[in-house]
Amino acid sequence: MCQLIVHGGAGKVRNSRSYREGVEEALRRGFAVLEKEGALEAVMAAVLSLEENPLFNCGTGSALNLDGEAEMDASVMTSEDRFGAVGSVKRVEHPILLAKRVMEETDHLLIVGDGAERLARFWGYPLYDPVIESRRDELEDVKRKGSAFLPKLHSFLGEEAKGTVGAVARDRMGRIAVATSTGGYAAKAPGRIGDSAILGAGTYASRWGGASATGHGEQIWRQLLCFEAVEEMRLHPAGEVISRLVREAKEQGCSCGLIGIDWRGRMAQAFNAEAMLWGTIENGQLTLDA
Ligand code: GLY
Repeated sequence: MCQLIVHGGAGKVRNSRSYREGVEEALRRGFAVLEKEGALEAVMAAVLSLEENPLFNCGTGSALNLDGEAEMDASVMTSEDRFGAVGSVKRVEHPILLAKRVMEETDHLLIVGDGAERLARFWGYPLYDPVIESRRDELEDVKRKGSAFLPKLHSFLGEEAKGTVGAVARDRMGRIAVATSTGGYAAKAPGRIGDSAILGAGTYASRWGGASATGHGEQIWRQLLCFEAVEEMRLHPAGEVISRLVREAKEQGCSCGLIGIDWRGRMAQAFNAEAMLWGTIENGQLTLDA
């Protein structure tokens, strides 16, 4: 049996049918390759689909920093302990592809900024502008509502600005893979990197399971939320672990959502934000709560 779970970000309720369709498309694209090509290719296909979709805060349509630039983070990890990530990349179409190549073709774990962009050109990815007009409006709106460079910017932004995407898959061989991609949040400081690029924070996998997070990146990172979740899956079902961690995270002021699959193939999701877009697919059976 193979499983795939996807999230399209936690934050405010987004009722539009297009969001649902985006999550469904990601699930279908991921599941189409899960059986034959395995867990890693499935999470890649799912996240690539969301990076292409301008509704989601990753790839095309990423939130903009204070300078009006998209600065994107992405990471991928497998249960064989392989990890790759990029941070603060601005002019690439698919940060998740770069993260996978960092994992597969370098001795490094995380490459950021100019270095990551130079690698992108070296690997043949053309310059690409992921900025869309509605994100410019969002940035202006955020700036209008308060002073821009706030040390506590996230509490000011509240529930509005999230929307990271992620996918966790388990294939027939029991291999688990996780991919996470984000534009961070509007009006973040230039150069800021969040949990989605960090091993154990926004992404983690081991033989015991896999998890991807969305929400308040600094807090998710402080709590190493995905690492905690997967470690606990060794002894406890994913559903129990994820519900408890997300509940506890809220008590510590962390607005977030978490998805995961444990080593027995049990999928789970939970969120303490107003809403989270998510869906699962197992043996062709699709469930959406997006
Ligand atoms: N969770 C995404 C971020 O804060 O960057």
